[in-house]
Amino acid sequence: MKKILVLTVKPFAKAAVDGIKKIVGDAGYEFALLEKYETQDQMLAAVKDANALIIRSDKITKEVMDAAPNLEIVVRAGAGYDNVDLAAATEKGIVVMNTPGQNANAVAELVIGMMIYKVRNFFNGKPGTELKGKTLGLHAFGNVAQEVARIAKGIGMEIYAFDPFLTDEQISSKGVTPMHSVDELYSKSQFVSLHIPAVKETIQSINYDLLSKMPANGVLVNAARKEVIHEDNMVRFMTEHEDFSYLSDIAPDNKAVFEEKFDGRYYFSPKKMGAQTAEANINAGLAAANQIKNFFKNGDTKFKVN
Ligand code: 3PG
Repeated sequence: MKKILVLTVKPFAKAAVDGIKKIVGDAGYEFALLEKYETQDQMLAAVKDANALIIRSDKITKEVMDAAPNLEIVVRAGAGYDNVDLAAATEKGIVVMNTPGQNANAVAELVIGMMIYKVRNFFNGKPGTELKGKTLGLHAFGNVAQEVARIAKGIGMEIYAFDPFLTDEQISSKGVTPMHSVDELYSKSQFVSLHIPAVKETIQSINYDLLSKMPANGVLVNAARKEVIHEDNMVRFMTEHEDFSYLSDIAPDNKAVFEEKFDGRYYFSPKKMGAQTAEANINAGLAAANQIKNFFKNGDTKFKVN
């Protein structure tokens, strides 16, 4: 009997776990759960006889795959799969999938929430500004960015997007003005929200030169990955530009520097929380379980990323 292990250091909502368990049971497979694990040894022991893994940001390295000789498929319940060693998986013939779009609305709501929190001075009682009429640049225009655009339109923001993988028509069909370079996007946008994956082309790509393109009172919002920021450049830029703020769902490695130097100009959530809603957990968790079932039953490899 195939064994499907939900392996999440950051647990899913109970309703999501119950839903996954039901899909797995109804399909005739064995369900197993390891949440909030604290050591690599615990993780390695749990994967030993698993045929499939459902994970979140859990790191699936070659060492983990070596410890799981029966592993056939890993589904990252979420969008970004930079936590899975794709080369090692491919070499071992392990299929890796994500569940695109399933947690997009949750992340988008957090992006808008962080922006409102910032322009209202972190709800400290002092007068702030509004988002209506302000410019918003979406750096990449995938599922999350499209949800951000939908909400920002309702607020009355002027929205631009740059995405080299989409046509102008695909962007403008969502009521968003297409841009043709990152420079153009950043120079038009008081607010920029990052929706790029962490890959070798993007790591540390948000640098001093790019930030310098932004207009006065610029705000960079990062619900993507901390690795895409050139942190030293960011610190230098913020030191030189006292009107600039940085909001991120993932604290930078040099968080202490921000705390010391940039009071009132940054926000970092204590733990990545963009996808931390019951709805996102249910959407992504159940999609992952169904994708595994379809893979085992029909060889369906839709959403394969390696
Ligand atoms: C994603 O890539 O889907 C998000 O960053 C959510 O990550 P999480 O499942 O670890 O919250």
